[in-house]
Amino acid sequence: MLESKRIIITGAAQGIGAVLASGFAEMGAKVAVCDLADPGDLVQRIGSDGNEAIGIRADVTSVDDCNRMVAETEEAFGGVDGLVCNAALFSALPIKAYDEIDPELWDEVMRVNVKGPWLCARAAVPAMERVGGGSIVMVSTNRIFRGYPGLLHYDASKGGVLAMTRSLIRELGPRNIRVNTIAPGLTMSEGVLARDGIGDRKGAIAAARSLSRDQEPDDLIGPAAFFLSDHAGFVTGQCLIVDGGGITH
Ligand SMILES: NC(=O)c1ccc[n+]([C@@H]2O[C@H](COP(=O)([O-])OP(=O)(O)OC[C@H]3O[C@@H](n4cnc5c(N)ncnc54)[C@H](O)[C@@H]3O)[C@@H](O)[C@H]2O)c1
Repeated sequence: MLESKRIIITGAAQGIGAVLASGFAEMGAKVAVCDLADPGDLVQRIGSDGNEAIGIRADVTSVDDCNRMVAETEEAFGGVDGLVCNAALFSALPIKAYDEIDPELWDEVMRVNVKGPWLCARAAVPAMERVGGGSIVMVSTNRIFRGYPGLLHYDASKGGVLAMTRSLIRELGPRNIRVNTIAPGLTMSEGVLARDGIGDRKGAIAAARSLSRDQEPDDLIGPAAFFLSDHAGFVTGQCLIVDGGGITH
């Protein structure tokens, strides 16, 4: 599905991003695995499976890092066709009432989760234009379609991601660049599994879905790959909720 696509995935040293990177590589993509943390182990695993990956340490809130991330991908693979803006502050965020959230943390969540995807897109667009177009996938959450307590900063940031997607297509369509969003439900990434009390809540969360089971990171590979692929060549500005039918929209 992704043969010859050159795809940057941010926040991919572990968690959902790592699973997406491996899944895209299995589908024939060349992947740039980017993260603040060292993505070396994953790059090695993808390589030992006979697929192609490079690792780049980059902070999505840094203009210089975003530009370097794109430049190194172009140099290694000869171009950039896809970008998945997966990096975010999420699994380590403390659950807090709306009036107990630290205002400084609020700003940091906005900086990483909203400004980060914007800076990554801004850096990738010229490279995509050089190869005749491309596809950007944003990562939001199903939480914004219903409303949940405890993560107001996070939910506000992910609503911002969706709004950004919708406006961005008006500017990037003429450059043949598509922008779509996936909105996962609670997904059993390493970070989520490490949260206190998750084991007790999993059953109730699964029961609220049409497909009553835990959501796993690899449930997101196909939906994200579709948006990155040529099969979605006339699809832009859309949001796909991937949560086993928990929320319909
Ligand atoms: N797991 C879920 O339940 C769930 C549900 C809906 C949406 N999401 C979204 O999916 C994405 C991945 O989720 P996850 O559970 O794997 O998250 P996670 O918190 O486990 O991993 C996030 C990754 O982003 C990286 N990162 C953080 N700040 C960065 C920065 N400034 N620059 C570069 N990398 C940075 C981290 O190092 C980490 O590898 C996030 O955007 C999250 O909001 C997750």
